[in-house]
Order: sequence, then C-alpha cells, then structure tokens
Amino acid sequence: MSAKVAIVTGSNKGIGLAIVRRMCKEFSGDVILTARDESRGRTAVTLLEGEGLQPKFHQLDIDSRDSIAAFKEFIEKSYGGLDVLINNAGMAYKKASTAPFIEQATNSVRTNFTGTLHFTRAVLPLMKPHSRIVMVASRAGKLNIVKPHLQNQFSSPSLTEPQLVSLMDQFVQDVAAGNHEAKGWPTTAYGVSKVGMIAFTKIIAREMTASGKIDILVNACCPGWCRTDMAGDNATLSADQGAETPVHLALLPAGSPTGEFWGEKKTIQW
Ligand SMILES: NC(=O)c1ccc[n+]([C@@H]2O[C@H](COP(=O)([O-])OP(=O)(O)OC[C@H]3O[C@@H](n4cnc5c(N)ncnc54)[C@H](OP(=O)(O)O)[C@@H]3O)[C@@H](O)[C@H]2O)c1
Repeated sequence: MSAKVAIVTGSNKGIGLAIVRRMCKEFSGDVILTARDESRGRTAVTLLEGEGLQPKFHQLDIDSRDSIAAFKEFIEKSYGGLDVLINNAGMAYKKASTAPFIEQATNSVRTNFTGTLHFTRAVLPLMKPHSRIVMVASRAGKLNIVKPHLQNQFSSPSLTEPQLVSLMDQFVQDVAAGNHEAKGWPTTAYGVSKVGMIAFTKIIAREMTASGKIDILVNACCPGWCRTDMAGDNATLSADQGAETPVHLALLPAGSPTGEFWGEKKTIQW
C-alpha cells in the first residue's frame, strides 16, 4: 500500500509553512509543501530540513488549471490517493491598498474562492476513506458581513455549487456596476471570498456524507490573527499558533463534526 500523504496549498511561508512544520511532526505519512514559485518552495523545504523535518515538495498554483492537473497526476502516480488536503493558499489586499475595488474583488474571488474550488474539485476523487479536508478561511468571512437575503442564499442547506458560483459572480458584477452595497454586499472583497469558501466547505461536506464514502470530514476554520506577510507584525498570534486549528482539523478522529466552521479548535458560529 502507498504511503499516507498530506498536502498543504500555499505553504512556502506564513501559516501554510507552519502547518507543514506541525504536520511533519504529527502526521504519520508524507507531507507535501507546495508553492506556486518553485524556488520559494524549495527554500522553505530547506528551512524545515534545517529543523530536522523532511517535507516533500511539488509546485502548485491554484490559479492555474495546468498546474492543478500536473499536481493531481503527481499525487495519483506517487500515492494513488490523498489522506489530508489543507487548502491554505490565499491572498488579501492591504487595508491601505489603492487598487480599484473591482480589481480587488476580481482577484480575491479568483484565488481564494475559485482557485480553492478548482483545486478541491480536481483532487476530490482521490480522497481516501478516513481522509480530511480543511479550508483555512477567516472570521472576515462571517456570514453576517452580507445582508440577510444573501445570508439566506449562502447558508441554504440546498445551495448547489453552480448556485454558489453564480452568487460569487454576481458579487463581482455588482462591484463592476458600482451597486454592490445597494445589493447587500460589503466593501470587503477578501471577506466575501471567504464567505464563498465557507459555503463551498458545507457543499463538499454534504456531498461526501451523501456519497457514502467512509468517514471523510470537511471543515473550515479561522486560524486567528497571525503575524505573516498578509496580516503584518501587529497581529496577536505567531504563524505556528495559527497552524494549531488547521492541524487539529486535519487529524480529527472519526465521528467528529463535518461541514462546520471552527476557531481555537472548537466549532463556532459562521
Ligand atoms: N494571517 C492571518 O491573520 C490570517 C487570518 C485569517 C485567515 N488567514 C488565511 O490563512 C491563509 C494563509 O495566510 P497567511 O497569513 O499565511 O498569508 P501569507 O503569508 O501571505 O501566505 C499566503 C500563501 O498563499 C500562497 N498563494 C497565494 N496565491 C496562491 C496561488 N494562486 N496558488 C498557490 N499559492 C498561493 C502564497 O504564495 P506566494 O509566496 O507565492 O505569494 C503564500 O505561500 C490564507 O488563506 C489567509 O486568508 C490568515
């Protein structure tokens, strides 16, 4: 039988790198550090090797269909399946950014929502019995950032993936038309992208439960406010502390909740 394997997207730095560090210590199998930029990824692997750890490396850009396909082929050939998928890759504009809001909306939704969705869909057939999927979302994506009529749509237990994709497209179109606030959206592209990611988590969790596949748990979390390039130096937690809840979800025992939103290793209200 092939070795067990865990993969972490966007793990050349920040919380992703800290997740790989911890998984190398706690997961009994190979841990694959991935990065869209090969040299940044290899540098991160060398750093962890210096700490006595042995992550593997593979290139992965979740915005690229070709990169996703090559990664999937690598996992299929090398391992035949997947035990842990941690979707950590993400991007955010700084508060002070002067980029036009339509640019922020387009790019935030593209990577944080669409990229995560495409990558998850690609590798979903490889998930083994007892596997775990973890989405590193954020409290910035709490449901109440959108108005009640949108909350009802995002949180509907019958929401389908095509309906979710059109909701996210609608956000970008409303921003382009300059009427997103009148339509019930907030002026945080990052937040909306994470609302979409959490809604997607629930769709995949329902799908795995209905599929009858044995003990596949799918959960989203907020890692907390962590000192990384994304959040800056004033954040209250280290990246290693931010890795705690994602790793907890990656190693959940059978019978644990699925389709939930977590913070500090507990389920919390979305
Ligand atoms: N830091 C916080 O306080 C905080 C709070 C809540 C949630 N989060 C979430 O935690 C996750 C990690 O954040 P972080 O603070 O560690 O951020 P970070 O230091 O900026 O790291 C983000 C990682 O994602 C990678 N990435 C970006 N776009 C990618 C793509 N298209 N394909 C593959 N990888 C990509 C980056 O690669 P490059 O190095 O190539 O850019 C980097 O490795 C994100 O999803 C973020 O939204 C963070």
